[in-house]
Amino acid sequence: QELQLNLEQIEKGGYDHFMLKEIHEQPTAIKDTYRGRMLPDEGLIRMAGVDDNLERIANAKRILIVACGTSWHAGLVAEYIFEELARIPVEVEYASEFRYRNPIISEKDVIIAISQSGETADTMAAIKLAKEKGAFAFGVCNVVGSSISRETNAGAYTHAGPEIGVASTKAFTTQITVLTLMALKLAKHNGTISNTDFRTYLQELELVPGKIEKALEADEHIKYISDIYKDARNCLYLGRGFNFPVALEGALKLKEISYIHAEGYPAAEMKHGPIALIDEEMPVVVIATKKGHYEKVVSNIQEIKSRKGKIIAIVTEGDTEVRELADHVIEVPETIEPLTPLVTTIPLQLLSYHIAVMLGKNVDQPRNLAKSVTVE
Ligand code: G6P
Repeated sequence: QELQLNLEQIEKGGYDHFMLKEIHEQPTAIKDTYRGRMLPDEGLIRMAGVDDNLERIANAKRILIVACGTSWHAGLVAEYIFEELARIPVEVEYASEFRYRNPIISEKDVIIAISQSGETADTMAAIKLAKEKGAFAFGVCNVVGSSISRETNAGAYTHAGPEIGVASTKAFTTQITVLTLMALKLAKHNGTISNTDFRTYLQELELVPGKIEKALEADEHIKYISDIYKDARNCLYLGRGFNFPVALEGALKLKEISYIHAEGYPAAEMKHGPIALIDEEMPVVVIATKKGHYEKVVSNIQEIKSRKGKIIAIVTEGDTEVRELADHVIEVPETIEPLTPLVTTIPLQLLSYHIAVMLGKNVDQPRNLAKSVTVE
């Protein structure tokens, strides 16, 4: 048994939990995702699964994304990115809902399944259904040779390496990376992006791992904030645009491992319901990075403040405006707006991690949850 324990400690590479290790692996994981695919100097993206089927995918009338859990959140980020860059209409669906409602699918549709494990039963069934109706199926999986990767017509692996913690972290950011590369490739092919912008994206993407390293440096500060809010009963997460799905993901992380009730909302929807919940007991995590409807989010923060909610804001380095309003700010390095989810996600992962550890929860294997859900 001692041997077993030691082995596990070695696997955790000096970290207390797999989740923390995997959070810290993200800079490397993202590099592994784009290595060999992204060639900034040549202004090129090579992805065999896309290259071999370029016309079919680029001419899609519509892209349907199906996934579950965290992968579904990556799909939502991808929706914003695909529509912004490649100008192809995208719909994102929970795999479990999609398959049970007789969806309208045609041969001109491309369906993308996002799945870390590649084994999620509902996602698998959704792909089979779409294929039967003639759609072209593309898989974004992490586990090589998994069922979904075999069932799809083509795909691109995330290359994140094994993810052991049940709460998904590096799978999420690498899924977004793969999907961004794919969107850029389609945009270039369809002429919906200028050569200059294309190069800017590649250069910026190459800087993301370093920016995540920087974001990880806020760890001690996040620990301090976690200690203040660890006994909260509820928590609200707000974000807009590209960062709306990040708010959903932040809330999911907190629910999954600390069992604190949390909800993610588009910041502008706050006035249609969640604002009623705000009082001095309610911590509100707001993603308020520059660009991304910044001024609008600032006015949301003012509304929370006037109702005495506690504000934890994720801001761009050097921000002063939000600092004056928020109870706490966590800085992340600046990047171009569509790539911000890759950095804003980091502090939210750490926040949920520290709270769960402080509450004495089983971070890597939260109750009632499984890493891969092979039942329908
Ligand atoms: C489970 C896991 C989640 C994961 C979801 C989808 O619920 O606990 O972390 O996001 O399944 O899994 P997949 O392997 O398809 O990405």
